[in-house]
Amino acid sequence: STTSEREQYRPHIHYAPAANWMNDPNGLVYFGGLYHLYYQYNPYASSHGNLHWGRATSTDLVHWEEQDVALPEREHQIFSGSAVVDWHNTSGFGKGGRPPLVACYTGHTADNQAQFLAYSLDQGETWTYHGGPVLDVGKTDFRDPKVFWHAKSRRWIMVVVHPVERQVELYGSFNLQDWESLSVFGPAGATGGIWEVPELFPLHDEAGRLYWVLKVDLNPGGPYGGSGAQYWLGDFDGQAFTATTPARWVDHGNDFYAALTWNDLPDRRVWLAWMSNWQYAHDVPTQGWRGAMVLPRELGVCADPHGPVLAQRPVPELQALRQAKTVRQGDGIFSLSPHQAHELLIRWPAMPAAEVKLEFRSEAGSEVSVEVRSGELWVRRPVTLVTSSLDGYPGDHRAELPLHLDQFDLQIFLDASSIEVFAGDGRVVISDLLFPSEQIREVDIQFGGSDPLSMEVEVWSLKSSYGV
Ligand code: FRU
Repeated sequence: STTSEREQYRPHIHYAPAANWMNDPNGLVYFGGLYHLYYQYNPYASSHGNLHWGRATSTDLVHWEEQDVALPEREHQIFSGSAVVDWHNTSGFGKGGRPPLVACYTGHTADNQAQFLAYSLDQGETWTYHGGPVLDVGKTDFRDPKVFWHAKSRRWIMVVVHPVERQVELYGSFNLQDWESLSVFGPAGATGGIWEVPELFPLHDEAGRLYWVLKVDLNPGGPYGGSGAQYWLGDFDGQAFTATTPARWVDHGNDFYAALTWNDLPDRRVWLAWMSNWQYAHDVPTQGWRGAMVLPRELGVCADPHGPVLAQRPVPELQALRQAKTVRQGDGIFSLSPHQAHELLIRWPAMPAAEVKLEFRSEAGSEVSVEVRSGELWVRRPVTLVTSSLDGYPGDHRAELPLHLDQFDLQIFLDASSIEVFAGDGRVVISDLLFPSEQIREVDIQFGGSDPLSMEVEVWSLKSSYGV
């Protein structure tokens, strides 16, 4: 039957290319009514190497169409970077009044990394490489340019990283081709590994106050020793970023890396990340493909009593996947279809009193559990038959929960090989890959510490985002 031929770990609602290797999202830009997604892709094998930019497009952030490779490797590999719509044709790449789409990526060879450009005049279908590097400081490690338009100073800003020095450097340009250094940030925050994939963007809190977010990834030295992502909130004056908060983890799970936001998206800020960890990315037990993205998340700032924090909420478009709902008050076992993804929603009044335990089981037993206890959120990911050789896979992933809320919620997405837990209206997130020994068939939900009947549980089966 089709179900038994379908690989057990192939996601139902997360983007993954049909075959071969994928890591970081690249070149995220909203243009011509399409969400453009490029990514680190090896078209020859399901291992990291021969990096090209693969490509997919979507009209709704939920359903993705995989397209032909956009940027094939040349005399260098095409490492991570970003893309912008050059509305005013500052680059001069445009023709006949059509604004070019311009990609800025790192050309990687064994002894040099420098920033290069490519452009497209047909909305990302076909690309032309623009000759030599536009920014080369003669280093082996200097990569991951994120470019965006800064309206106030009417110029392009590039955020790029010196991994070994744990420094993010900001450059400015009026034409995308000549870049001048503006400032350097770091080392700061977590420095237990090299820095990669910086991102800088503005966000407003509910009261309309403006913050700038600087995110930079770290490998190793993340929350559980492998790779991870940290951020600061602060100010950007067109020249330099100044942090006004301490560094915090973006995600308290083990599988969220290299997040990038969509350029040119009106009215909101959405990002996507690679759902893996460099600890074991090369060895995850999938067949013929390796690498998936997290669910796209809408970003916000919550001005909490202890200071402002980043909030991440799954984009509302995902609700289109909701199929059948089961609702219940209190404890109980819900059966889950092994052939679908699921969304679980639990809400309760007043955080501190509650204890919740969700145990996701296959016929082989418990495959993963989620717990709220003593003001903390836990995801326990036990070793399974198929993950016994994955260093760093088994573990308990933990985060402190905000205690001041008088309404509390958990939103959980369970797919064939992942779990994402959003808590406290997106203030706390744990994202983990999951390789169950057998397919998960039920979730046992137990409430303690307060009246279980005041707890409402909603379980949705979700349609596949891949069509049939
Ligand atoms: C992050 C990263 C980037 C680099 C790319 C190479 O995961 O190491 O720094 O550009 O992946 O694939």
